[in-house]
Amino acid sequence: MYKSRIAGVGHYVPDNVVTNQDLEKLMDTSNEWIIERTGIEERRFVKPGSDDTPSTMGTKAARVAMERAGVTPDEIDFIVFATLSPDYYFPGPGVLVQEQLGIKEIGALDVRNQCSGFIYALSVADQFIKTGMYKNILVIGSELHSGGLDMTTRGRNVSVIFGDGAGAVVLQATENENSGILSTHLHSEGKHAEELALIGPNTGKWVPEIIEANDAEDISYYPYMNGNFVFKHAVTRFQEVIHEALQTNNKAATDIKLLVPHQANLRISQYIQKKMALSNDQVYNNIMRYGNTTAASIPIAMSEAWEEGKIKEGDLICLAAFGSGFTWASALLYW
Ligand code: UT7
Repeated sequence: MYKSRIAGVGHYVPDNVVTNQDLEKLMDTSNEWIIERTGIEERRFVKPGSDDTPSTMGTKAARVAMERAGVTPDEIDFIVFATLSPDYYFPGPGVLVQEQLGIKEIGALDVRNQCSGFIYALSVADQFIKTGMYKNILVIGSELHSGGLDMTTRGRNVSVIFGDGAGAVVLQATENENSGILSTHLHSEGKHAEELALIGPNTGKWVPEIIEANDAEDISYYPYMNGNFVFKHAVTRFQEVIHEALQTNNKAATDIKLLVPHQANLRISQYIQKKMALSNDQVYNNIMRYGNTTAASIPIAMSEAWEEGKIKEGDLICLAAFGSGFTWASALLYW
């Protein structure tokens, strides 16, 4: 039976840095408020008119991951792409990556699990590798939030948080017992679906209806978040799902070399760190520089941690995420 290991990780973020001071010019907010409540100092926004899209950013991150894994695009057997901000309503970006990489007609799957999307995608890819069906799978998380945010004071509790970017890994079959994914854990609680959501346009309210209504007060096509409610659930579910991963594998929090949490809010990461008695060296945060990049945040963080030498072969790595759905997930793996 094969296991799957992360053979290479990469990321791509747009050049355009948007600081909290830049946002102060657009809405009633302040650098102090954003840093105190979220830890975010700046984020990247794709410049209007740029060639960057969720799929092209994903492809750029994937090329870095493939180079680091030492595999060529032709060796990739399957693509799993996680995003909440696809290039098109349909088809999903997975097929666009297949085209952009110029590879043979392999399968491409799109995952719609928002902040947990990357771990869900990793888990799907892990199953294909464990069964022996595929050897090398590209798992990509990419988001282009900036164009769809309400950049007025009305949307400030959401808009100051999110940023654009992409991360990717090559998940590869291995027969090495001491390497690779030990387990993944996936959860959902749909009764809270509307607490963090972008509701429209949808099948109950198609675009022609929205155009006809011409209602400037209709904010259903902007993301909505019940911030306090989401925060409270996040701190609980993050801990639960990390403990689940540790217990499943008879590990303790002290065994974790690095926890790479979804970068939702620095206060959430710090709360989990404190509750689990983890040291500063055991938790990776880069939300200060990129904001919350949803499905891209974990692979971007893993890629930076790897570049900084904080992830090395044989290290026990824990990934965990919580977000819209609600969905939450974790993965425990040896690098
Ligand atoms: O990644 C997916 C999962 N997402 C999360 O886990 C995010 C979870 N939630 C959060 O991170 C936090 O709830 C937020 C950062 C969104 C908000 O922080 P908070 O400490 O929960 O603030 P709040 O929503 O309770 O708002 C406090 C005050 C309000 O004013 P009043 O009613 O006290 O006068 C808001 O109107 O802050 C105001 N406010 C702002 N002020 C300046 C909200 N957004 C802003 C802003 N700038 N951007």
